[in-house]
Amino acid sequence: MSLRSLYHFTPPSNWMNDPNGMVYFNGEYHLFYQYHPDSDLWGPMHWGHAVSRDLLNWKHLPIALYPDELGTIFSGSAVVDAHNTAGFGEEAMVVIFTHHKENIQSQSLAFSTDSGRTWTKYTGNPVLVAPENTPDFRDPKVFWFGAQDSGHWVMCLAVRDRIMFYTSSDLIHWTHSGEFGPGYGSTAGVWETPELFELPIDHGLDKRWVLSVGVSDGAPAGGSGTQYFVGTFDGKKFTSENPPETILWADYGADYYAAQSWNDEPNGRCLLIAWMNNWQYALLSPSSSGQRGMFSLIREVSLTRTKGGIRLVGKPVPEYQKLRQDHFHDEHTLVKPAGNLLADVRGKSAEIVAEFNICNDVDRFGFRVRVGQDEHTTISYNVKDQKLHVDRTHSGVVDFKDTFAGKHSAELSPMDGILRLHILVDSSSVEVFANDGLVTFTECIFPSENSVGLELFAEGGDVILNSLDIYQLNPISFQRAAN
Ligand code: FRU
Repeated sequence: MSLRSLYHFTPPSNWMNDPNGMVYFNGEYHLFYQYHPDSDLWGPMHWGHAVSRDLLNWKHLPIALYPDELGTIFSGSAVVDAHNTAGFGEEAMVVIFTHHKENIQSQSLAFSTDSGRTWTKYTGNPVLVAPENTPDFRDPKVFWFGAQDSGHWVMCLAVRDRIMFYTSSDLIHWTHSGEFGPGYGSTAGVWETPELFELPIDHGLDKRWVLSVGVSDGAPAGGSGTQYFVGTFDGKKFTSENPPETILWADYGADYYAAQSWNDEPNGRCLLIAWMNNWQYALLSPSSSGQRGMFSLIREVSLTRTKGGIRLVGKPVPEYQKLRQDHFHDEHTLVKPAGNLLADVRGKSAEIVAEFNICNDVDRFGFRVRVGQDEHTTISYNVKDQKLHVDRTHSGVVDFKDTFAGKHSAELSPMDGILRLHILVDSSSVEVFANDGLVTFTECIFPSENSVGLELFAEGGDVILNSLDIYQLNPISFQRAAN
């Protein structure tokens, strides 16, 4: 069966995990990734590389970084050194990554002066070594803080149960400037892949910094997941505005990990992409003809003020609308407990945009996607307990790991009786963005290729469907290029 995603990023072959080194430069969005080119299982890590001009279609480039005598190449980030602070060349692209060798981790640099086509490792590597007895010291996220002429480089680093911050004027010499944690948020697993960015609240003038952190275990859907903290960052250290026990999750599905953003996004957007997988079963899940690993949709994130506090919201970038094809539309319809309005609609790769008005006495309603014989994935809203659920217990192949076949939940109040669901279905994934991205679920599923049915259902009463649009989505393209 072909599980290869039709409109999500996948590497040419073999194993991929975290997205790395995302930066925009000269018309191209660069995307690197943790890559094992010799196997569909995790192994000695390299950095794979691809570029896109439109965030939809990708050109695979040669592997950017190979393991060397200092170790294999773990996760990290990329910057454009516009003012040649490191001395590698005017507008050099510089990647900052973790060298990993025999449980020792240190930070190193490589640079390119030809738009990322060829890479040279810095001869002075590593530039930052771990303090003694600190085996977890990895995943540098580097960005420029402050004005172009008076700012400095910042590095966020994951160090077991905390994030450490370093500053530098030249990317080579780093000074420890602060740390966040331990004891904040979820500490059920090791902290990994930090990300830090500033966002406006409700598109206004008031802003906050968001520190996002991968936690290797204990996420709401089990296993690894992405939590975030809201607060302030003074260029040296991050301070959460919530008490330590507050736990905020960027996604309630099982497969949203190691989220990173693009540096220098030309429209000033904060765009995140994540590895669509979970360390709990990543090595066991079905592979697609020897290819294992894909990325989530690219989402634009912003902040919004809710009753509970300031929260991160994420929506798929509008670029995906260019993939829309055949269209089904309905509006002002009563969805009743019997029947299926979507009996004639098919969706292997489909986008569902729906708005419901919950004014009747319905108990539960929602969609079943990738429906086939004995197979379906259910996205449902439970009106009484005000919870949104994604149930993949019957989603197809589920038996490779006992914890995979689960039902995942998040609390969500309707907005003045309205529930909006934006659902994107692909060959082996479902992503749900509810109430304009306040709650999201990112989930892998492994249905049969011919399980392409869709259902709209209501239980216990009727629900008003204000509007519904379902689009078939065109696949994106992948080119392979020598450079
Ligand atoms: C997160 C992670 C990182 C590490 C990389 C290794 O998924 O464990 O902490 O750098 O994967 O591939």
